[in-house]
Amino acid sequence: MARIKSTAANACFFLLKLLFLCSLPYRSSSTPLFPKEALPTKSGYLPVNPATGSAIFYSFYEAQSPTSPLSHTPLLIWLQGGPGCSSMIGNLFELGPWWVVSSHNQNVDHLSLERNPGSWNRLFGLLFLDSPIGTGFSIASTPQEIPRDQNSVAKHLFAAITSFTSLDPLFKYRPIYITGESYAGKYVPAIGYYILNKNPQLPVSQRVNLRGVAIGDGLTDPITQVATHADSAYYSGLINQRQKGELEEAQREAVELVKIGNWSEATNARSRVLRMLENMTGLATLYDYTKKKPYQTQFATRFLNIAEVKKALRVNESIVFEECSDVVGAALHEDVMKSVKYMVEFLVKNSKVLLYQGLYDLRDGVVSTEAWVKTMKWEGLEKFLMADRELWKVNGELAGYVQKWGSLTHVVVLGAGHLLPADQALNSQDMIENWVLEKGQFGGQKKVSKRVNLRGLVIGDGLTDPITQFANYADNACYLVMVNERQKGELEEAQWEGAKLVKMGNWSEATDARSLEPRG
Ligand SMILES: *[C@@H]1O[C@H](CO)[C@@H](O)[C@H](O)[C@H]1NC(C)=O
Ligand SMILES: *[C@@H]1O[C@H](CO)[C@@H](O)[C@H](O)[C@H]1NC(C)=O
Ligand SMILES: *[C@@H]1O[C@H](CO)[C@@H](O)[C@H](O)[C@H]1NC(C)=O
Ligand SMILES: *[C@@H]1O[C@H](CO)[C@@H](O)[C@H](O)[C@H]1NC(C)=O
Repeated sequence: MARIKSTAANACFFLLKLLFLCSLPYRSSSTPLFPKEALPTKSGYLPVNPATGSAIFYSFYEAQSPTSPLSHTPLLIWLQGGPGCSSMIGNLFELGPWWVVSSHNQNVDHLSLERNPGSWNRLFGLLFLDSPIGTGFSIASTPQEIPRDQNSVAKHLFAAITSFTSLDPLFKYRPIYITGESYAGKYVPAIGYYILNKNPQLPVSQRVNLRGVAIGDGLTDPITQVATHADSAYYSGLINQRQKGELEEAQREAVELVKIGNWSEATNARSRVLRMLENMTGLATLYDYTKKKPYQTQFATRFLNIAEVKKALRVNESIVFEECSDVVGAALHEDVMKSVKYMVEFLVKNSKVLLYQGLYDLRDGVVSTEAWVKTMKWEGLEKFLMADRELWKVNGELAGYVQKWGSLTHVVVLGAGHLLPADQALNSQDMIENWVLEKGQFGGQKKVSKRVNLRGLVIGDGLTDPITQFANYADNACYLVMVNERQKGELEEAQWEGAKLVKMGNWSEATDARSLEPRG
């Protein structure tokens, strides 16, 4: 989740929040707001600095239908983005066992909890952490204690995770998977890297049993990712050639500022790129270009500010819950454009990595992720880039695409934006379960092939200038992220063949060459 930057917007947001809080209806005592079965298995605070009292809030849900003894059942840890946004949004709006829903009745909004059929704790334990301190219900005793870089974020997380696993002998040796979204594209590699480097210095009983990391719609290598917005918007048909040029100029500015190490200005330059894109497209949200209004996370935020709910979660009632903390955002302002790609390179060699994105995300989506993955220093990279991008089906329906080589898995999820589990609950559950358990397309070794694969292409609306349009299929398909880099190369070759025949005036053969493409 990105943070609302302008103070005007914040003031307005605050007023709205007040209004909402004031208009909360009284409920009849017969229907508890927080039914017993919706309570977390455990929740509370994990100290990161006992001397000052700073602590990370956690909320843990045990596996609903574990397939192994609990002491061996995998444990997923979820980290929200921001920087400074609360994992309780992930919990109550995206992947937790219960969603906050709002229903209108006699002009009043009624909030309630509803089971999420795609919860990530069906087979695994699921632990939400509000990190860094100062985020959500977490406590930062002083603003100075809030981390300003990824190593400090990781240090606090390590303290919290080891403190959690010592709460119960059942937690001690469970396989741990760190997962997260958006700005957690920084945190997830940072804590993974920290654990792998720290473990060898510790006695076996104190190590963290890390087995893999998963990043959804993440910001990981900003210098590469900031340079992709113009292309992804243009090839999605959202901006024209001139706007593309303007965006590219703004992107170059951000890249230059990163190169000279002016981190604060580089972060501002990236915000300008995103604001320009918002302005040019007029979209309700860059998180999902198909949405008519932004993700409705405000209901979860209102819910979390109700005294009864705070009590149920074992949180001090005097804490005002904010979806995203501006104080934490400010502390990490200079961190935003710093890359953690080298940490992912380390993790892919020593663990396993899942990168997944929603097809409709214009902020940290597929194009943005593939751009930096291509530049990874990893001996398996070439094999990964040549691997088949397989159709991934759930219950017989196309859910997206899976590309895997060795320890790296990339998944494109159809019908989803940035807050992917909220859009595709069941498919995201299928993905995370099969990736952890290495089942189906998420297991075993994939073949590398040179076969032309033209399935899954969506082609344009009209044919007027065949020789030009012809040459665009590969770019379109690639930027619409329906094909991978290798498939793009194969399409380009076929296109070149067609263009050559047109130039020679061999019309019959040229037409045949074009129909190698799907009709449209
Ligand atoms: C970064 O750039 C801004 C604006 O050009 C300038 O005011 C500031 O001094 C620069 N900071 C550093 C650390 O170079
Ligand atoms: C974009 O910015 C221009 C100039 O500031 C403004 O006039 C216009 O209304 C904005 N468009 C949108 C969609 O916000
Ligand atoms: C809750 O927080 C307030 C203000 O920080 C503090 O005075 C109070 O003692 C806390 N209550 C509990 C039960 O910790
Ligand atoms: C077009 O190309 C085909 C295949 O190379 C060839 O058989 C045919 O004679 C060519 N036709 C013309 C008009 O050049």
